[in-house]
Amino acid sequence: MIESRRIFPGTYPATRLRRNRKAAWSREMTAECHLHPSNLIWPVFVLEGQNIRQEVTKMPGVYRYSPDVLAEEVKKARDLGIPAVAIFPVVEDSKKTADGGEALKVDNLAGRTVALLKQQVPEIGVICDVALDPYTSHGQDGIVENGVVVNDRTVEMLCRQAGVLAEAGCDIVAPSDMMDGRVGEIRLALDDKGYQNVQIMSYAAKYASHFYGPFRDAVGSAGRLGRADKKTYQMDPANRREALREVALDIEEGADSIIIKPGMAYLDIIRDVSVTFPVPVFAYQVSGEYAMIKAAATNGWIDEMPVMLETLLAFRRAGAVGVLTYAACEVAKVLRT
Ligand code: PBG
Repeated sequence: MIESRRIFPGTYPATRLRRNRKAAWSREMTAECHLHPSNLIWPVFVLEGQNIRQEVTKMPGVYRYSPDVLAEEVKKARDLGIPAVAIFPVVEDSKKTADGGEALKVDNLAGRTVALLKQQVPEIGVICDVALDPYTSHGQDGIVENGVVVNDRTVEMLCRQAGVLAEAGCDIVAPSDMMDGRVGEIRLALDDKGYQNVQIMSYAAKYASHFYGPFRDAVGSAGRLGRADKKTYQMDPANRREALREVALDIEEGADSIIIKPGMAYLDIIRDVSVTFPVPVFAYQVSGEYAMIKAAATNGWIDEMPVMLETLLAFRRAGAVGVLTYAACEVAKVLRT
């Protein structure tokens, strides 16, 4: 015993890893990462009207707000220390067309909401999705020709959409469409118009996932899409190395930060990207992930907030600087108490 201790001083019984875990203060002192409200981005749904607060059936605790109510909610988010919100418009059926032209109007729902938020809550960052799916009659993120989502014509539309959102006052455009080459083209288009300081947060590695179901219901694109899918542009869940190529291209094209989406099933991608590229990496805890936690908690099968906190900490541990989560406000409240 004494002999082996001399030869291996770094092993039990001299070394006891439980020593650092013996008290809360010590665990806190030795924690390798923390979760703070500044790590949380809040995705929100907005719909036309006034004084509306409509719960999303498959996402308990998540609401579609009219712009006026949203502004009040966003003030609360700001007061909780949340740095940014990501806006998703629920576009009226009558405004959806094959080419998604509504996306190019500066006074559309997204544009008016951005302007209102920047006027009423200027201290919070406003992120807008760049993709055509809320506006297309078929629910695809781009323009469809002969049954194919065409790349380059879509990119032209996305550039114009990004310009319109910048004009409305948005701080960050977030292309979530997965067309090739769009980040570079959007950067050029923004710079051309004098929006050099509008950031691009690129959904660089976005997978063709079944975890988006509740979101598509929330924005009303599920029925539009029907049995179609987005596999010709969103990534194949089988691929890990390809994510590095997607991210490398987007960084070269001028992305200021990167989103990996979905989150929990793609922690390996978050890890790979964050150790490979010196760029801020965000995880998106998508609607299906949120819904699973809520559903299990509603049944009494898991303890909701501790599970939520554990998943968010896991994103931080994997290397994400922040997380887009529908639970941002609930979580920030807990973190501040
Ligand atoms: C659309 C978009 C989607 C999400 C964010 N932006 C859905 C999709 O690609 O079909 C999903 C978010 C979520 O599920 O929470 N471009």
